[in-house]
Amino acid sequence: MKLGSTRMRRLRNPRVRRIVKETQLSIDDLICPLFVDEKAKKVVPITSMPGQSRFPLNALKKEIEEIIGLGIPAIILFGIPGKKDERGSEAYNSKGVVQNATRLIRENFGDKILVITDLCLCEYTSHGHCGIVDKKTKAILNDPTLEILGKIAVSQAEAGADIVAPSGMMDGMVHAIRTALDDAGFKDTIIMSYAAKYHSSFYGPFREAAESGYAFGDRSTYQMDFSNADEALREVALDLKEGADIVMVKPALAYLDIICRVKQEFRVPVAAYNVSGEYSMIKAAGEKGWLKEQAIMLEVLTAIKRAGADMILTYFAKDAAMLLAKQKSS
Ligand code: PBG
Repeated sequence: MKLGSTRMRRLRNPRVRRIVKETQLSIDDLICPLFVDEKAKKVVPITSMPGQSRFPLNALKKEIEEIIGLGIPAIILFGIPGKKDERGSEAYNSKGVVQNATRLIRENFGDKILVITDLCLCEYTSHGHCGIVDKKTKAILNDPTLEILGKIAVSQAEAGADIVAPSGMMDGMVHAIRTALDDAGFKDTIIMSYAAKYHSSFYGPFREAAESGYAFGDRSTYQMDFSNADEALREVALDLKEGADIVMVKPALAYLDIICRVKQEFRVPVAAYNVSGEYSMIKAAGEKGWLKEQAIMLEVLTAIKRAGADMILTYFAKDAAMLLAKQKSS
């Protein structure tokens, strides 16, 4: 066959490439995770996530200033409480670590940053699970957990959270949280649901970061099996019906097909969580000189957006923002 007059390479010359680019990663897409540690006296680096740290409350202001300075629109807060118990009661303490952090950020920065609070029990329970545990059978109990999730949501909204992000994969959690928020007068608090959250080994480094390893069993009775995709669509449909405003797919990189299908099917705001293991793999390979860290970072984040994510939770947020700003000005 003769080479036709269609020439794909015409649109790849360096001058035209910019105007035909289909996906443009932007600082506006980035959500920066932050670990706030009630016990820490100073900033504690997280060994398994090079470049990430746990912050004591008194070091938070400086970090947020930096994040705002880089133009990043949102943060998601994870709390490490001073004490844990079987019911995770510190999670809904009005003076708990996340509530204090949220209040501090609101008081100091007003509308300059969107505050999202992770809403889960696992960092607060002594056994490390995302729900109430039956003492005898060790089962993670769904319905008794819902009431607690509602309480956490209200305490976070009271502290000033714009968005609560339930990540425990309990059935009915979005409905329970929406009802609790509405009843308490927080009709405008947004719910970003970790709707399709897989039981994944990519969360490994996070367990050190948030001290949320578990005492027994694993999370496979509530998080999704990574073999399943149709099930993710059912999860998302349910969460939307229960009142989720934004739905999340997690992890991101090995789940681009899920992000794509969720976006295509529902056409709602989709968040993707570029999780700790995805971050640490790139960092480790970068440190060894096996991969070019910054190039890979941009490739991965752009791919997640190309798949259909409207926003990306990523530990690369600050690095990516810096690089994107530099590219723009060069
Ligand atoms: C649970 C939670 C986890 C992550 C975010 N929220 C851990 C888990 O489900 O085991 C993982 C995030 C990451 O790996 O970056 N509250």
